[in-house]
Amino acid sequence: METGLVDSLLREERVFRPQPQVVREANMGQAELKAAQTLARQDYRLFWEERAAEMDWFAKWDQVLDDSNPPFYKWFSGGKCNLVHNALDRHILTVNKNKLAVIWEGESGECRKYTYYELYREVCRLANALRGLGVQKGDRILIYLPPLPETVITMLAAAKIGAVQTLVFAGYSARSLRERIESCRPKIIVTADGFYRNGRVINLKSVVDEALFGEDADCAESVIVVHRAGVETDMVEPRDLRYEDLIRQESPQAPTEVMDAEDPLFLLYTSGATGKPKGLLHTHGGYMVGVHATYRWVMDVKPTDLYLCTADPGWITGHSYVVFGPLMAGTTVVLYEGHPLYPQADRLWAIVARYGVTILYTTPTLIRMLMRYGSQYPRKHDLSTLRLLGSVGEPIGPEPWVWFHKYIGRSECPLLDTWWQTETGMFMVSPLPISLLKPGSAGRPLPGVEVDVVDRHGNPAGHDKGGFVVIRKPWPAMARTLWNDDQGYRQAYWEKIPGVYFAGDVARKDEDGYFWFQGRADDVLNIGGHRIGPAEVEAALTAHKSVVEAAVIGVPDSIKGEAAKCFVVRAEGWNKDYDSEDELIMALKAHVKRELGPFVSIRAIAFREQLPHTKSGKILRRLLKAEETGAAPGDLSSLEEE
Ligand code: WT7
Repeated sequence: METGLVDSLLREERVFRPQPQVVREANMGQAELKAAQTLARQDYRLFWEERAAEMDWFAKWDQVLDDSNPPFYKWFSGGKCNLVHNALDRHILTVNKNKLAVIWEGESGECRKYTYYELYREVCRLANALRGLGVQKGDRILIYLPPLPETVITMLAAAKIGAVQTLVFAGYSARSLRERIESCRPKIIVTADGFYRNGRVINLKSVVDEALFGEDADCAESVIVVHRAGVETDMVEPRDLRYEDLIRQESPQAPTEVMDAEDPLFLLYTSGATGKPKGLLHTHGGYMVGVHATYRWVMDVKPTDLYLCTADPGWITGHSYVVFGPLMAGTTVVLYEGHPLYPQADRLWAIVARYGVTILYTTPTLIRMLMRYGSQYPRKHDLSTLRLLGSVGEPIGPEPWVWFHKYIGRSECPLLDTWWQTETGMFMVSPLPISLLKPGSAGRPLPGVEVDVVDRHGNPAGHDKGGFVVIRKPWPAMARTLWNDDQGYRQAYWEKIPGVYFAGDVARKDEDGYFWFQGRADDVLNIGGHRIGPAEVEAALTAHKSVVEAAVIGVPDSIKGEAAKCFVVRAEGWNKDYDSEDELIMALKAHVKRELGPFVSIRAIAFREQLPHTKSGKILRRLLKAEETGAAPGDLSSLEEE
């Protein structure tokens, strides 16, 4: 066994067979799956080409996959398309025209509904307004919004006019926002006055003001402010514009930009092992094909479904499987603004019952939280409309799996644990509704993708041996590069193990080829399904005057899967500013939240005289982690040493 790779402590023996009706009605049935697997094995280009043919294109591609310059792969080169044509324009010519596209519920209880036609008209209005502000193909639009209908509208409007959108989760701080603004130089920022979260009004516009303070004028020419919570905001003339004023006079018709398949659609920043967030770039053609196909197979949507995904649009799950995938499939999406436990632990179940949700896609952290409140909360509501459940973001573990399946899914609904990443754009490893399910396993790779578990030389790890997760062949929804950093893209994903994509996860594969994901192989933390870079937290800590040096590691947490623990070397004289260690700890925790965003919570801070380092001066987080959790040190850090 490789040092540091856990074979597994876990041997889950339970299996759950799919209900006959589910098997009969699945979008991807046994016969289709066999055919798909056979074709994908013989000719995966042809396999993806057939998926592409299921979409609308303005002009057909010349080449399915251009692999002449690895790792910079191109899909459907020469093809002309626009994701928004598939997500919106084409629906208004069908029976979907008057079907609900979005049902939005605010935390304080209000509800707004949009048919596909209404959504189309709103998107056109905003598209025209954005064009009127001079936005052109390739310009960046930064969206700093909570889950609101306007968030969906802005995402679609930006894509419609060929702009590159980047969503920044509304829980990020001014500093994190500024860092992203400086990286992508948006022409326009769209935000809201405020929003409701956990019973409080969060002032969002002031964060944008702080982030833009002192910025030169060649970026963020306009800040568009959606009215949501009635927060008093300083409107800076002529930069700031009210969303409602801007669209009022605009025509509800607007042409959709014809894009090359490889033109950028969005940029999404995520944390890596280093201090700077990485801006992953996704493009129109391949992304739309990959997301559309996988959404239909895994979530098995039918025209009558009502779909709820608890992810925020600001994460990749929100992009692919709250907004783009469901709308391309003509699904009705429920979008909820607020905290899932507000005002009490049955809010989610009340929403499911109120609208008759049929498909529920959520995270292990939320499941564990709901589980802690017990089954009396779900029992108060009629959840009988549910027919399919999904999980994403972190390893779910058998017990939360079984609880969710039993108490929410009546032991009947398929519960599908989907493994994928910001980088993959689409589901990669996941069971299908027709699959035999093993609680805690994400099942097998989907047809057309080749995911494997290998040792550090790239040799297949044996059955049940822990190893690194790699992807052997390009896939259509893969990120194309890092924004302005081709070299960083190559290094982070394609050079750790030659010839394959390195995902940064560890897993084992059992004798049936089922994947059991164990966590990250690198130092990246996964707190409640959110990726947090240790170096970013460390940088925030060392920006505090009482801190000389800091190291951050993940330690197990019974709800969030992982929690952050910080080791801090204090500056001389810290005790002149703080009366006690506890006071300093409180100040440091608050400081990190202010620097990075309120969703970054620190569980513990320990003080040390010094921290362990490598010869080249890097902090040995692995060693601290080993001391803390008893896990074996080594693996990736030794990989990097070589
Ligand atoms: C990382 C990607 C993909 C949407 C949410 C997170 C972890 C994701 C699973 C799963 C075990 C999972 C991995 C992965 N992860 N899904 N089903 N089982 N781990 O997107 O922020 O890009 O993070 O989340 O560690 O690498 P992300």
